[in-house]
Amino acid sequence: MLSKRLSGIEESATMKMGSLAKKLQAEGKSVLNFSLGEPDFKTPGHICEAAKRALDLGYTHYTSSAGIGELREAIAEKIREENKVDVSAENVIVTPGAKQAIYELMMGVLDEGDEVILLDPAWVTFESAVKLAGGNPKWVKRLEEGVKYESLESVASENTKMIIINSPNNPVGYVLSDNELKEIAEFAVDHDLLVLSDEIYEKIIYGRKHVSIASFDGMQARTVIINGFSKTYAMTGWRIGYAVAPTTEILEGMLKIQQHSVSCAPSIAQSAALTALSSPQDCVKEMVEQFKRRRDVIVKRLSEIGLRCLNPEGAFYAFVNTSNYGNDMELTERLLKEAYIVVTPGSAFGVAGKDYVRFSFAASIEDILEGMGRIEKMF
Ligand SMILES: Cc1ncc(COP(=O)(O)O)c(C=O)c1O
Repeated sequence: MLSKRLSGIEESATMKMGSLAKKLQAEGKSVLNFSLGEPDFKTPGHICEAAKRALDLGYTHYTSSAGIGELREAIAEKIREENKVDVSAENVIVTPGAKQAIYELMMGVLDEGDEVILLDPAWVTFESAVKLAGGNPKWVKRLEEGVKYESLESVASENTKMIIINSPNNPVGYVLSDNELKEIAEFAVDHDLLVLSDEIYEKIIYGRKHVSIASFDGMQARTVIINGFSKTYAMTGWRIGYAVAPTTEILEGMLKIQQHSVSCAPSIAQSAALTALSSPQDCVKEMVEQFKRRRDVIVKRLSEIGLRCLNPEGAFYAFVNTSNYGNDMELTERLLKEAYIVVTPGSAFGVAGKDYVRFSFAASIEDILEGMGRIEKMF
């Protein structure tokens, strides 16, 4: 009964591991879940209050499909001021989560057989969204080594239409250097490509500065910035994200898909998001400080146990090399069976991840210490 389109699409590995953790917890097992990319903090109180106000005021109907005007304005202002990209509200589409924005972009611009360059390993949804839209992913390895013009060139063809970047990165935690961004930008201009720049972790960054590729010379015209509120404001369940498109053509293409699929992002979440953006950002600072503390603890404990990972410079994932203990699937299974620890196998993110597992450290310090203790005992 299923379409051919679905034949190459896997279930989301991160969501699958998360469900497994919840199932084991429901059975009464003392499970530690390091699989989900979800802040464990509550959504800050003032944002929740804004949602309650929106309910009381009766903002419970469809909004205009691209999002409420004030929110689109506030997002455009944020992009101009923080990301140094000269856009207006007309460039912004508010979506039910960044994921929907990615899906709409793929469905809006890709034709059957178009090729899209992905940096391996990459967050699971990029590959699936490309394939669902009929595109072919082309992988370039970017694990510890940087991205170079020549490596991008080696997979380019006349069918290449887009390159996807994600910095700070899920699952590795790297932040692309200015030099890498420059090479990617030059490559995109030379080959007349669109760039999808997923900047959802821009605020969750440790000691580095986030730079949007759209701010490079000539790049605004070909970059679609994807961002959202899930990670920065601990709002995963609110389903609210956005895209900033370079042209009316692309924005209107995405809008058509939004109109005929979800109509608009949730009205109450949009009101809350407007408050999130326009209020003081102390809550973000506090959460990022805690993520940094957790990053420091997990990296130290992992290395004491003999598990090596790159020091994450952003996002909340440690991508841990498993070579001393078998491949990713073997270690994932062992951690689950022997220590009731749930992680995500690295191969879910691309071939380059096959000797890695991803630990999300969006978990309490207590859980991180308990988990590392269990692993130490297991080894
Ligand atoms: C790189 C990246 N982009 C987008 C998302 C999804 O964001 P949203 O909750 O806004 O759909 C995630 C979630 O894991 C992510 O890691």
